[in-house]
Amino acid sequence: MKVLYCGDVVGQTGRRVIIERIPELRERLDLDFVIVNGENSAHGFGITDKICEAFYDVGVDAITTGNHVWDQREIMNYIGGEPRLLRPLNYPEGTPGRGVNTFTVAGGRTLMLIHPMGRLFMDPLDDPFAGVQMALLNHRLGKTVDCIVVDIHAEATSEKMGMGHAFDGKVSMVVGSHVHIPTADAQILPGGTAYQTDAGMCGDYDSVIGMEKTTAVARFVQKLPTGRLEPAKGEATLCGVYLETDEDTGLARHVAPLRVGGRLAEQWPV
Ligand SMILES: [Fe+2]
Ligand SMILES: [Fe+2]
Repeated sequence: MKVLYCGDVVGQTGRRVIIERIPELRERLDLDFVIVNGENSAHGFGITDKICEAFYDVGVDAITTGNHVWDQREIMNYIGGEPRLLRPLNYPEGTPGRGVNTFTVAGGRTLMLIHPMGRLFMDPLDDPFAGVQMALLNHRLGKTVDCIVVDIHAEATSEKMGMGHAFDGKVSMVVGSHVHIPTADAQILPGGTAYQTDAGMCGDYDSVIGMEKTTAVARFVQKLPTGRLEPAKGEATLCGVYLETDEDTGLARHVAPLRVGGRLAEQWPV
């Protein structure tokens, strides 16, 4: 199976690069499934039903989120009836929506998407490792499901690497989101799971993690209250991770970063 995971979409410029490039990428890379992290797609804060629909229309199959999932409160009413939109798995019981779902892909194959959120330097939540383990309880990669992707939304690189190794051999890929900067560690772990600590964002890199740099820098320099952070408006780079799995085992055959558009050097999976 050929899967593309795109990191946190930030603001209008991030939405634009997704909407403009996904149809072309689907075709050029012969993709079976496209996942986008949309937690910052609504002007940097959260996501709306309209944005979800715009992403589905261009060929996005599933959307993950993160700590910003509830920034646009209307999404609380939408998420329960929208199986393609995931919120982090390890929120308290009774939280609207779901953090795991299984999708049918062309040819009757199945892809399971699991979306834990880390706890280091983030709000306290239930144990993300136990959450993933629970989600996998009745599923076996290559037996009951053809591909399993874990989007670990976390601040700490250590917690993300821990997640990769904890489920190495049990899932097709563990990929990180939230940091908004792509890491250079794409690899297949010893057990066969593809891994990259963070996919990076789909946004303008002439910014501070996607937000307009003047206000963001002033917050560090002056330590005085500033206006609200606004998303940067320059041309976005689409940052993603491409995964190809073995059709029999579901483990990774190839993993590589993808970067197109904007300021970062272009990179295509070989
Ligand atoms: Fe984010
Ligand atoms: Fe986040």
